Amino acid sequence: MFYPEELVEEVRMKNDIVDVVSGYVKLQKKGSSFWGLCPFHNEKSPSFSVSGDRQMYHCFGCGAGGNVFTFLMNYENFTFPEAIRALAERAGVQLPEAELSEEARKKAGRRARLLEVNKEAAKYFYFHLRSPHGETGQKYLKKRELSDETIHRFGLGYAGKSGADLVEYLRQKGFEDDLIKEAGLANFSEKRGLLSQFWNRVMFPIQDINHRVIGFGGRVMGDGEPKYLNSPETPVFDKRRNLYGLNFARTARAGNMILCEGYMDVIALHQAGFTQAVASLGTAFTAEQANLLHRYTESVLLAYDSDGAGVKAALRGIGILREAGITGKVINMRPYKDPDEFIKNLGREAFKERIDNAENSFFFEIRILEEQYDQSDPEAKTRFHREIAKKLCEFTEDVERENYLQAVADKYHIGFENLRKLVLAYASQTGFARPVERPRSGVQQRSNPEENAKKAQRLLITWITDEPPIFPKICKYISVEDFTEELYRKVAKRLFADLEQGNYNPAGIISMFEDEEEQREAASLFNTNLPRMDNVKEREKALHDILFSVKKNSYEYYTAKLGNDVNALKQVIDGKKALEELAKTHISLDAG
Ligand code: UTP
Ligand code: MN
Repeated sequence: MFYPEELVEEVRMKNDIVDVVSGYVKLQKKGSSFWGLCPFHNEKSPSFSVSGDRQMYHCFGCGAGGNVFTFLMNYENFTFPEAIRALAERAGVQLPEAELSEEARKKAGRRARLLEVNKEAAKYFYFHLRSPHGETGQKYLKKRELSDETIHRFGLGYAGKSGADLVEYLRQKGFEDDLIKEAGLANFSEKRGLLSQFWNRVMFPIQDINHRVIGFGGRVMGDGEPKYLNSPETPVFDKRRNLYGLNFARTARAGNMILCEGYMDVIALHQAGFTQAVASLGTAFTAEQANLLHRYTESVLLAYDSDGAGVKAALRGIGILREAGITGKVINMRPYKDPDEFIKNLGREAFKERIDNAENSFFFEIRILEEQYDQSDPEAKTRFHREIAKKLCEFTEDVERENYLQAVADKYHIGFENLRKLVLAYASQTGFARPVERPRSGVQQRSNPEENAKKAQRLLITWITDEPPIFPKICKYISVEDFTEELYRKVAKRLFADLEQGNYNPAGIISMFEDEEEQREAASLFNTNLPRMDNVKEREKALHDILFSVKKNSYEYYTAKLGNDVNALKQVIDGKKALEELAKTHISLDAG
């Protein structure tokens, strides 16, 4: 592990999970826990619970769960070390510096300096906008109907008419000329020395997901060229891997993301309450950006310009999204050009309606295709149908392809069987898709014994952590080795050791694992749904059943290993004895 365990525990204990989660989710106290709407899936009534006693959270809807580190890893998409660093900072805990090579340190240093100079430049533009020199910019932004709050939130600024002021300001702040140049903030002129790259433009700082300024876009006042001037790529500004507005959008949790073309579109949408809007950075949408979006959502709505170039970009975007495993839909902006103009003219309610009626990307593609063929000419119409068949072949999943086949046949009045034949012909010709197979038999998967065994082990651990006094009553029947899943065994080992010492610390156990998936699985051990039990007798029987089941599974597990595991024989002998004893023992759950 990167940091020593004691330090990890210190950081965890100094960050109360209820406090931390409350910063992201509205929680309400009910009984001994706090409840809210789960931030990890869409829901209308709260099934997300946070326990201050246990310092854990758990969603009864989607099964998400863990401790305060897991929460940040899930919510912020942090790695384990990143989560620790963020929480250490929050609680004022000093972490040791990581060991870096000389070269890595230099590079990190340079990047840090570039971020600093960008931040300082953003400040300069911001204050310049508010100074008497910024009047042109102020007026422009007012004309575009941005509120002071929006201007502040996006850190908008203004680059004045003199190209020398910014450079002078940055020099005074201690930044060297070559750094200012490398950041793309200024260019060298033979005659006049270092001059600001941006002047007489409204400035849009471009931030990464951690709100750090990595570059700028500047919009000209009036009709100059280029309309938008962007910072060049730098070691901190990778246009392929960042999206404008994502620093806010990633916590919007609207169930989708809206992808637009322009900075102004993003800002107008956020101002209207659609904080899930993002845009690419003056370049075409990339596969890297699609993967980035996929971290946050399964569904992206394209709000591209409704002109020819916008449609072309949308068609390209749909393909990239599909590759990344994202469902794309297209928002109809007509009769307006872009989201900014749409909102200005028709308002947010109308836009919300357009969101709800966004067109499935497949039908969008077909509709665009349709326009290219003269539907009154049988020849052209046939070619159109062939193109549809070709498109249908892109669905590799049979059920999905069949569903689209049905839908598109209905919509365009094509005979279902005829279209299907076309698809099959096309598929076997090109091998794009396998011929349609018959649907699988509807036989349900039988509950599998392995899953049952795991469930019993989870139930037992949850029960023990919910009710630690049962531990002394059962510990002579159960041992760490009875947990046949490796991860479960690790958890049990630590939990039992803790309990023997009179400790009780499940949330700490979760941070033994660095991997988010492992943390989630470890957390699930403490949050399994125990069966409803009305009286002591039922509880005793349930506990006995669970114990017996865990024990029996363990016995069978080690029996299967006899012969190639030296430990197994002892386990089998002990296990048999324990099983027999357990069979005739009554474990009392009466108080005392
Ligand atoms: P648009 O030309 O659609 O502008 O460019 P817009 O967003 O509607 O801008 P306004 O409303 O006239 O102010 C969309 C995006 O394309 C990039 C920018 O990122 C812009 O936000 N772009 C456009 C450039 O990088 N350079 C340009 O010269 C024009
Ligand atoms: Mn516009």
